[in-house]
Amino acid sequence: MSERASVRVEERPDRVVVTLDRPDKRNAVDADMVAELHEVCAAVEREPRLLLLTGGADGIFAAGADIAQLRERNRTDALAAINSALFARIRALPLPTVAAVDGPALGGGAELSYACDLRVCTARAFFGQPEVRLGIIAGAGATHRLPALVGEARAKELLFTGRRVDAAEALRIGLVNRVVDEPTELLGAAHELLDEMARASSLALRLTKLAVDAPAAAHPQLDLVSQAVLFEDEEKRRRMTEFLERRRDR
Ligand code: COA
Repeated sequence: MSERASVRVEERPDRVVVTLDRPDKRNAVDADMVAELHEVCAAVEREPRLLLLTGGADGIFAAGADIAQLRERNRTDALAAINSALFARIRALPLPTVAAVDGPALGGGAELSYACDLRVCTARAFFGQPEVRLGIIAGAGATHRLPALVGEARAKELLFTGRRVDAAEALRIGLVNRVVDEPTELLGAAHELLDEMARASSLALRLTKLAVDAPAAAHPQLDLVSQAVLFEDEEKRRRMTEFLERRRDR
């Protein structure tokens, strides 16, 4: 486990677990946290592993971008894409990522969870995009990732009103994949999901993620090339042989 100023990072052989750790400011995403999460991304890019991103189970995921820093930022800062570049980098990580959300995921905090591939949350979690009430847009991914997750009309409603979405609604509209009743179950449920993925071929997972996230115009060629790579992969032969031999031995 390595401790940085705003995040704790646990490296396991098949996954990296990142816990946002700025409780005094409700895990608001400030410049230090952005820099530390970039370091995590660099490590996962160098050595691809699954990623679990959480605020822990103490009732907070992240309260958004740090409003004290946000208030002082100017148009040049906005164009520097401080949070959006990080969230795009997280989104593009080679292997699947899961956000485990307890309590509020608001503004940039919600967008951080949308940057992950999947979301698990507790019954007391809630999501919201209050940016317009603060006089800004949700500029770190919600304008395109939220419609992709919940559809255009629902996304617009949430972005225009800043209304909070509770866990039950989040599950119903496809914003989260699983809801657990108790905070104590949160990390276990997220790890279970990652365990299921960890059983797959890492290269197949990686190319599946690439294909799903690719623009429409990349299909079917990207899928064909991905499959061509996998058809030549020794692991595919081993996995298929194991399957066939297991059946023969029955
Ligand atoms: N940026 C900077 N500081 C933040 C913050 C943010 N987004 N969210 C919370 N904080 C700080 C508060 O200023 C307070 O600091 P202080 O103790 O120095 O006064 C501390 O975190 C605790 O916040 P508080 O509101 O008392 O906690 P709470 O548990 O009652 O409520 C939230 C938690 C997340 C519901 C509430 O803090 C909130 O609504 N935050 C803002 C969410 C938001 O609008 N985000 C969009 C940003 S784009």
